[in-house]
Amino acid sequence: MTILRRFLLGIAVLLAAAVSAAAQPAPPKAMVAAAHPLAVDAGLEVLRQGGTAVDAAVAVQMVLGVAEPQSSGIGGGGFLLYYDAASHKITVYDGREMAPAGATPDMFLTSKFLGLGERPMPFPEAVASGLSVGVPGAVALLDLAHEEHGKLPWKDLFQSAIRIAREGYPVSPRLADWLNIIKTFRDDPAARAIYYNADGSAKRVGERVVNAALADMMVLLAEQGPKALYEGPVAEEMVARVHAHVRPGTLSLADLANYRAIKREALCGPYRIWTICGMPPPSSGGLAVLQVLELLEPFDLYRDKPDDLRSLHLIAEASRLAFADRNRYVGDPAFVDVPVAKLLSPAYLAGRRKLISPDKSMGTAPPGDPNYPEHGTSHMAIVDRWGNAVSFTTTIESAFGSQMMVRGFILNNELTDFSAQPEVDGRLVANRVQPGKRPRSSMSPTLVLDKDRRLVAAVGSAGGARIIGDTLQALIAMLDWNLPPRQALALPRVLNMNGATILEDVPALAGQADALRALGHEVQVTRLESGLAAIRRVGDGWEGAADPRRDGVAKGE
Ligand code: DON
Repeated sequence: MTILRRFLLGIAVLLAAAVSAAAQPAPPKAMVAAAHPLAVDAGLEVLRQGGTAVDAAVAVQMVLGVAEPQSSGIGGGGFLLYYDAASHKITVYDGREMAPAGATPDMFLTSKFLGLGERPMPFPEAVASGLSVGVPGAVALLDLAHEEHGKLPWKDLFQSAIRIAREGYPVSPRLADWLNIIKTFRDDPAARAIYYNADGSAKRVGERVVNAALADMMVLLAEQGPKALYEGPVAEEMVARVHAHVRPGTLSLADLANYRAIKREALCGPYRIWTICGMPPPSSGGLAVLQVLELLEPFDLYRDKPDDLRSLHLIAEASRLAFADRNRYVGDPAFVDVPVAKLLSPAYLAGRRKLISPDKSMGTAPPGDPNYPEHGTSHMAIVDRWGNAVSFTTTIESAFGSQMMVRGFILNNELTDFSAQPEVDGRLVANRVQPGKRPRSSMSPTLVLDKDRRLVAAVGSAGGARIIGDTLQALIAMLDWNLPPRQALALPRVLNMNGATILEDVPALAGQADALRALGHEVQVTRLESGLAAIRRVGDGWEGAADPRRDGVAKGE
């Protein structure tokens, strides 16, 4: 090739690059990723009006409670991480539901299996019961976060949700699915009137749902603040509903009046060039995510492709170890001394890492010994125009919570996140029921910072105990494999909760099942329903995505 031709080719390549860069729109400067398009629009509207990420989170939560009622709402709780762009500080808000003063360690046991001794009651019966209803925390959490980091008036943040509840919204594919799956939800008279047709059939995709009672409830909340929920007639109705159930609970007016959201220190740890910050106990999420990342770091996963046998095996093995510790040690820190620092110490994890063999599964992992004596969810990620960010996982636990409605909202069943058995093999379980205690969670709202504490990403998921693996893989995909959120969230999943290795049923992974079995894994190939939402820095703006397995979207401007 002559010098002239090389020169001309060089110019052509540069021109093509410039044209394609010019064709790329500048990345949005503010963004909302959540599990329902109407909620994302409500959040963006608040950001447009000059609201902060926390203001937007209030609006997004209120619309999710209307249009994604199976997953979260004002009858539930959650964990929110807030990143302040000016100070680079992270504040953690714990709005986890709390066991009533009348809760007892054996309340989920039943002796009706005569001759077999006391057994946990069948799980569906525990879920759909007054026993499972914890004191809701989402509203107290949002109120506290708004007081500290909101700009717009509280009452202005409810407008979209009130309008949508009053005018109605079309049933989404996921809501339609859950109305058919949770058949007992129609036993609640309020639910029957709102989500079912006169012939008792569940509303179908695209049919309209109007929830006037919830619109009225949110007018009260907008005008009076949290006391509209925690005191007075609404509190009385919640208590009456819980006591009227055939399996009644003990929720009282005092439990509601005494509830407080708690501010906690973020649980942060290093991963390569980043700092990963997550939720401390009572969630097990932040601890497990950090343990797995630290266990995996020397294996340099960035050398593999996401569906390589080596990365699937290593992620599954490290997850087993983290779940063994989670199940043994994690509970509400007000009741259980969780040895967080020891469980994250490099020396402890180096010992645990020795249990990982590159060519054989360890099978069920034992919990480690850090010298310790006792031993229906939705995620949103929001970045505002100033670069402040929210990573908020919000829940009513199962789809439609305890399947009881009051004033158009659904009461959570978060207390089934406690261990039904207070004692196993003569050892008190860290996560046993105790009055005033918060049940252990797996929710893992996460923020990633760079070495200058600039925000790199916000991510989290729904999906019960699978949240930990979902969040972890999204992090590995965005950080090690440098995938944009859209691809990172769509990646087929490998999970291990210290049992079988679970592979998402897509050909790329299912094809690895036999190879994993040859390494000694018990393998299950199944459909998975994570609920991730993520935002990542790109250039001087943001790119985001919501889990393609659900109804959500990410939008920015
Ligand atoms: O706190 C927890 O870990 C559970 N209550 C979360 C439940 C959940 O993610 C259900 N969702 N899809």
